[in-house]
Amino acid sequence: MRELASELEQLEQMGLRRRLRLISGPQGPRVLLDGKPVLLLCSNNYLGLADHPRVREAAADAATRWGVSASSSRLVCGSMTIHRRLEEQLAAFKGTESCVLFGSGYLANIGTIGALVGPGDVVFSDELNHASIVDGCRLSRATVVRYRHCDMAHLEWCMRAHPGARNTLIVTDSVFSMDADVAPLAEIVELADAYGARVMVDEAHATGAIGPGGRGAVAEAGLEDEIDVLVGTLGKALGSYGAFVCAQETTVQYLINRARSLIFSTAPAPPAVAGALAALELLQSRPHRVERLRKAARTLRGGLQREGFHVPETDMHIVPLLVGDEHAAMSLCQAAIEQGVFVQAIRPPSVPAGTTRLRMTVMASHTASELREAARVIGTLARQQGLQPAMMGSIEVERGFEREPREEREERAVAGEIVLSARGDRGGYGSGRPPAPATAPTHLPEPHGASAEQDTEAFDVQALWSALGADSDQPATQQALSDSSDAPFDHERDGGLREAA
Ligand SMILES: Cc1ncc(COP(=O)(O)O)c(C=O)c1O
Repeated sequence: MRELASELEQLEQMGLRRRLRLISGPQGPRVLLDGKPVLLLCSNNYLGLADHPRVREAAADAATRWGVSASSSRLVCGSMTIHRRLEEQLAAFKGTESCVLFGSGYLANIGTIGALVGPGDVVFSDELNHASIVDGCRLSRATVVRYRHCDMAHLEWCMRAHPGARNTLIVTDSVFSMDADVAPLAEIVELADAYGARVMVDEAHATGAIGPGGRGAVAEAGLEDEIDVLVGTLGKALGSYGAFVCAQETTVQYLINRARSLIFSTAPAPPAVAGALAALELLQSRPHRVERLRKAARTLRGGLQREGFHVPETDMHIVPLLVGDEHAAMSLCQAAIEQGVFVQAIRPPSVPAGTTRLRMTVMASHTASELREAARVIGTLARQQGLQPAMMGSIEVERGFEREPREEREERAVAGEIVLSARGDRGGYGSGRPPAPATAPTHLPEPHGASAEQDTEAFDVQALWSALGADSDQPATQQALSDSSDAPFDHERDGGLREAA
């Protein structure tokens, strides 16, 4: 039997024990945290709609008209007119043919991935994808290949190393919630085209927050017609609870028949659905809210820069500050709360070992002076605790998220390191059919954090690699041939819960 108390004690010693903190009142820019007034800088209520009077009223009204629960799964008797209304609105908003609601983003990801791939199939997953994607991949029992974060040369290499799979899927977050960067969606689509894979994009942190009118990163990239499956949540910018999948009608019908987390779970509650409908209406009728969010993000980033933090000048609403050490991050977090600023320290296994960070998120409803003051507080406390803001670079900067310029990729193609395709009007990677033999790119950076170590122990990489006829001593190969779905599920190894909620 596991010694639960001693495991908790161990977590405490390592600075990794988590506790629930209690918020009183709605999720607004200012809340009571365990009874103390604080500025809330870690909520996903990006547009300030969770506490908007119209959204609250809509939810209350729905409870009166439709009751509190759908009381059944969608396929039994839980499909209500209000579900259909929201699905139609979301499909129109995202520019897709159809949409289906799920109970939550977690359920949407595990159900959708499990429906789209299974044993004998291959799923290519960004190593920093959300835990719900990680879990969906493992539960699907497909072969899971984790490619290096946003590294398209590596993704292509992985795809070349897995020729001949009946059914393949590339799955990625669009905005990465812990790192505040955006997946190179156009390149992913090019690779998918070239190698005949489906693409699934999780827009949990992009929906309502980025792109034209808050329609997300896919819309920003003009790829609405290219992405096969688009997931979004209602629990972040849309101020409610639940999730949705937008896709072609056939795909949606397929999910209704095959996604276990939809089939075997109670349909979303009417008040949550009505709240999301009201939020979506507000977002569409007053898109300036998205602009306000961007402005708030720029204000916080500007304030942090003035304090000496090395944060990029973008308008991304998530701002991670790398601390590294868990105890230092927790002590900074606690000191900030005492000074009235609630930011969260995000620790392993939510993020790779050694990358503990403060993750700050802004809301459209924060004022500029609140954000400037918060930056000042964080800067002062960091210095008081012996941390140097200049060394607490944003993870965005640490990783150097400059994408490789197209010309350089073309040069590498000429040098034979990667294959570019002339296929389709997007041009780009891939030759339309997987070339052989697979050769590990030599330029890849050393793998970082937990996921690198995880992959090496996953299964007999050497055997598989030699079966492919390639050099088994290449360290980069181990990362690509990541894990077998038969390996026991392990949160630590599999990236764990990348975000609690
Ligand atoms: C990228 C991503 N996908 C999915 C989810 C899960 O969504 P939900 O909270 O609706 O279960 C989250 C939650 O934080 C997320 O960040």
